[in-house]
Amino acid sequence: MSTIFDELLSGVKSLLAGFGEEAARSFAADVNWAMPARELAPRGLPCLVHLLRLAEIAGDSARPLARMLADSCRDFHWGQTYTAADFGQDFIDNYGWLEVFGTRGHFANDRIAGGFLVLGPGIEYPDHHHVAEELYIPLASGTEWRRGGDDWRVRAAGEVVHHASNVSHAMRTGAEPLLAFYLWRGGPLAARSTVTGTIGQGT
Ligand SMILES: [Fe+2]
Repeated sequence: MSTIFDELLSGVKSLLAGFGEEAARSFAADVNWAMPARELAPRGLPCLVHLLRLAEIAGDSARPLARMLADSCRDFHWGQTYTAADFGQDFIDNYGWLEVFGTRGHFANDRIAGGFLVLGPGIEYPDHHHVAEELYIPLASGTEWRRGGDDWRVRAAGEVVHHASNVSHAMRTGAEPLLAFYLWRGGPLAARSTVTGTIGQGT
């Protein structure tokens, strides 16, 4: 019998198949979709309140998945890597991720991790880096992203953002929240990022 978790995984597979960029195809080709399910207790977070709005503003190709996340978010196990001591309580109340597959997600995969990041409006995720190579696909438009020493750049829904190993990156939202799909490979998949930035840096 198909579960809400199977629906989540097949939604992610379809989403990823829709991106023709080389980096997206390379990551997608690395995923063996026959992953064993992992039993995880549901865990909610304050940031989930933004999913209703995200289901409205998500790009066309991601909207069904965003709506499913909004409808079923309480069934999933959401996580946070940071605490209020890192970036403040406002960040913690407006930040969270859902690992669909990986070393701790709803499906077990020790080679590549994939999932969703939620940020509320008016939030900055400061400069950080990690060993794993990363792909981000924002599913809603209007957020700003920074990579390496570059300036902030507005990214549209469906743009593929690639972060090579240990390249510093940061994101910040404006009036709207962000839902982004991410993939990690080639490093410790549950590693905590090294944070080098502070909120407001470079503004
Ligand atoms: Fe990252």
